[in-house]
Amino acid sequence: MTKDNFYLFANWKMYLDYDESVALAEAIKAAEAGISKKIQMAVFPSPVATAKIKEVLVGSRILVGAQNTFWVDKGGYTGEVSAAMYQAVGSTYALVGHSERRHQFHETNHEVRQKLEAILAANLIPVLCVGETHAERESGKTEEIIEVQLRAAFSNLAWPKDLPVIVAYEPVWAISQGTDKLGGHCNAAEASRINQLIANMTAKLLNIAPQVIFGGSVRAETIKEYFETPDIDGVLVGAAATKITTWLEMTRALEI
Ligand code: PGA
Repeated sequence: MTKDNFYLFANWKMYLDYDESVALAEAIKAAEAGISKKIQMAVFPSPVATAKIKEVLVGSRILVGAQNTFWVDKGGYTGEVSAAMYQAVGSTYALVGHSERRHQFHETNHEVRQKLEAILAANLIPVLCVGETHAERESGKTEEIIEVQLRAAFSNLAWPKDLPVIVAYEPVWAISQGTDKLGGHCNAAEASRINQLIANMTAKLLNIAPQVIFGGSVRAETIKEYFETPDIDGVLVGAAATKITTWLEMTRALEI
């Protein structure tokens, strides 16, 4: 199975400081000519580095995104950065509802919806993250949790014409080899099964066919398996996308 477009989205989380982020962006840009144009690359750096990374990447096809955004454009919200502010420094995408935000910072489905609306209003492309914890999976609630997350995000939402819909399936138990300490490997067949479910539910809610990507400890050793499996339109990668060596191992492993 081959795909004409495959997203490689790099969530740098809080792994890299300013200098490290700039150095990695420069290295990816320098290597870009050797990377297949079928791979749609974007980096999601620390907020302190976003504007500089955009500057570094000007003239390349690597896009920039926000890891987290606030839903008010400006005001007395200490420590927050709005979607509009990320847009103003050249961001294209914004993650919303990442499980580390949901679980470490107790972000609710309601807040995810508010953020999503602000991201759309700021003309950024949201990348909605959904996924169940290990306990939820063990108790047979995977499908229900994902449906609740999708409904909260997309019900009665007017989606701007021509804006792509991107959803990332990120099972909490597979991220960083399991941030809930009970982790495991979500194989491509299971990722594909849930991605298909997400695609169907999203199409019903928004009347648009989404792109559904997968995230959860994707590595150079596993990326091809996801690429070759139907219903996986790309990957959202954390740790393995924070070094130029492993970045290039992944792009080479795709063989496209
Ligand atoms: P990981 O992170 O690749 O380090 O598991 C993925 C993510 O959280 O987006």
